[in-house]
Amino acid sequence: MLNALQAMQPGGRLDIGITAEDKDAVITIADTGAGISSQMLPHIFDPFFTTKNDGTGLGLSLSYAIVKEHQGDIEVESEEGSGTTFRIKLPQAPEEGA
Ligand SMILES: Nc1ncnc2c1ncn2[C@@H]1O[C@H](COP(=O)(O)OP(=O)(O)O)[C@@H](O)[C@H]1O
Ligand SMILES: [Mg+2]
Repeated sequence: MLNALQAMQPGGRLDIGITAEDKDAVITIADTGAGISSQMLPHIFDPFFTTKNDGTGLGLSLSYAIVKEHQGDIEVESEEGSGTTFRIKLPQAPEEGA
């Protein structure tokens, strides 16, 4: 969410959603910001990869590690100049007694 805010100009739009998909909970974080170029996209989850003057490059690498620890996954779709959508998939807990 912070990345989304940092990628947008005033008037941008941040959409956050959560839905159930098969056995997963899917959290969506979508912005109308700068987007990520196809050259950068393969690197955004690398530790210390940042395009910001004051960035640490740790946000996404740590988020990815935490989500993986929970048997989840993060997907990203981005278009330069129009925005970025992150989808965090987490397995739902099995139903009680199942
Ligand atoms: N929503 C987004 N829109 C555009 N670029 C993004 C977005 N989220 C991440 N990025 C890119 O991925 C890089 C790594 O993000 P992150 O790991 O959070 O580190 P940091 O925010 O410190 O740069 C950012 O520097 C930026 O280039
Ligand atoms: Mg960040």
